Order: sequence, then C-alpha cells, then structure tokens
Amino acid sequence: MGKNGQYYTLITGASSGIGKAMAEELARIQRNLFLIGLPGTGLESQCDNLSQKYKVYSRFLEIDLRNPDSPEKILSFSQDNNLRINMLINNIGVGHVGNIGDFPAEEINEMIMLNIYSTTHLTNLFLNELKSYPESYILNMGSFAGFIPAAHKSIYMASKAYVYYFSCGLSYELKNSSVKVSVAMPGPVTSNKKMIDRIHNDGTFSRLMKLNPDEVAKYIIPRLFSGEKVIIPGLVTRTVYILGLILPYAAILYIAKNVFAGKK
Ligand SMILES: NC(=O)c1ccc[n+]([C@@H]2O[C@H](COP(=O)([O-])OP(=O)(O)OC[C@H]3O[C@@H](n4cnc5c(N)ncnc54)[C@H](OP(=O)(O)O)[C@@H]3O)[C@@H](O)[C@H]2O)c1
Repeated sequence: MGKNGQYYTLITGASSGIGKAMAEELARIQRNLFLIGLPGTGLESQCDNLSQKYKVYSRFLEIDLRNPDSPEKILSFSQDNNLRINMLINNIGVGHVGNIGDFPAEEINEMIMLNIYSTTHLTNLFLNELKSYPESYILNMGSFAGFIPAAHKSIYMASKAYVYYFSCGLSYELKNSSVKVSVAMPGPVTSNKKMIDRIHNDGTFSRLMKLNPDEVAKYIIPRLFSGEKVIIPGLVTRTVYILGLILPYAAILYIAKNVFAGKK
C-alpha cells in the first residue's frame, strides 16, 4: 500500500472540483490520502474507490470548515489515528460576487473562514509535524484573482491576495527547513455547474483562460514536488499574468471591474 509508506497527504475541500482531482492524481502516484469535506458529500465511497484503484491508504473526516474549532479537530483526528502528514493541501475556498454594503453576513464569513482562517490555522497547527519529516510540502490554493483587485468581487480577490502573500512569506521563512511551500494561482476552472455558468457569462478572457480540474491538478502536482513557489496553470493565464505586469494599474482595475459588474 502507498509507496509513500505511512505518510499521508491532507486535502481540504476534497469531495469535488480541484480538490477531488488532486486527490485522484496524488493517489495515482501512490500518496496516501486524508480527505476533508462536508458531511454527506460521498467522501467514504471516494476513499474506497481510490484505495481499491490505486492501492493506497485513504482516510476521511466530514467536518464543516466554517466552524472555528474545525482545524483543531482535524489535528486531533490525525494524531488519534497516527496519520503522519507530510503534505498539507489547503484547497478549500469560496468566491462570492456582490457589492459591499449588500453582502449577506454569512457570505462574508464563509469567505473569511474557508479562504483565510482555515488555511492559516491548519498551516500553523501542522507545521511542526511537517518540519519533523525529511521531506514535506504545503500547497495553498490561491487564485489568479489574488493578483488583481476587482470591484464587485473585492473580498474574494483580497482573500486570495492574502493566501498569496502568506504563502510567499512562509516559503521564505522555511527556506532552510525540510518543508517546501507552493501557492497555486489558477484562472477560471470548470469545477462545478455554478463555475461553468459563471465562466460562460464572464466573457472572452475567462473562456480563453478556463481549464478543467484534472488539467489543473496534473499541472500543479509535479511542480509542487519540484518546489516551484508560485504555480500558474494554463498558458493563456500565464500570458495574461505577464501582460498584467506591464499594463497600467488603472487599466487592470477597469478591465477587472467590467468582468464582475452585475454578476452573482
Ligand atoms: N473554480 C475556479 O474557477 C477556481 C479558480 C481559482 C481558484 N480556485 C480555488 O480552488 C479551490 C477549490 O475550488 P473549486 O472550484 O474546486 O471548489 P468546489 O468545486 O466548490 O469544491 C469545493 C470543495 O470544498 C468543499 N466545501 C465547501 N464548503 C465547505 C465547508 N464549509 N467545509 C468543508 N468543506 C467544504 C466542497 O464540498 P461540497 O461538494 O459539499 O460543496 C467541495 O469538496 C478554492 O480555494 C477556490 O477558491 C477556484
């Protein structure tokens, strides 16, 4: 079972979308899995399928990461079950669109809890264990959104800018340790029906940049192992990123505003 011995990869938001695709890709290359998702999202059968198909160990915990005590509970479960976590993938995240002043409080809280709180606390809680192994990895899921401030999606953009700077700072902090830190900054991904509709409505840029979850996972995983600090899947997305470095800031704000204006 699992070429990687008794080591496990912890993935949050693993029951669908990019997290699910990364779980499959990691099982394929013989990593044991510890999958986190909401109750009733099929994690048990997902684990059974991956274990049978790839002959790896897989465990799961159904828990709502909007609750502030969830990171501590994940750590306790992992310690109680002797799961040796040498790879932490903070994938969970949501992005709501809207105007400040009109946002439902629960949408603001969900973005802060999933995108920022969970990523920060899980990293803090697991870091000493990660450091204790000869080779460990942290992957934080940012978004291309983290590079651009956009009206009507400002909370999401800011939360992903947080993930980006948190990861870059941490990577430098850990440069003399056994832990490699990467942040992935994908453009639009067709991870679920809502995203497929949104990408379609967002216009030409989004449609050209879009990738499916498998393409994203297959691009990210080898680069995570090679220690690439900032991973941007997709040739079009990387080209837009370079364009963004040379365009005037006001032009970027204007283009980004028009992508999300009036969307939900
Ligand atoms: N899709 C994109 O275009 C895109 C682009 C760039 C970056 N990203 C980032 O990539 C990451 C994954 O996005 P995705 O599009 O793959 O998301 P997704 O398809 O919505 O999947 C999110 C996963 O998280 C789980 N989840 C949702 N709320 C949860 C909660 N409160 N507690 C625990 N688990 C919860 C979901 O379970 P359920 O199945 O039960 O909902 C699902 O497994 C996010 O950080 C996102 O910001 C996405």
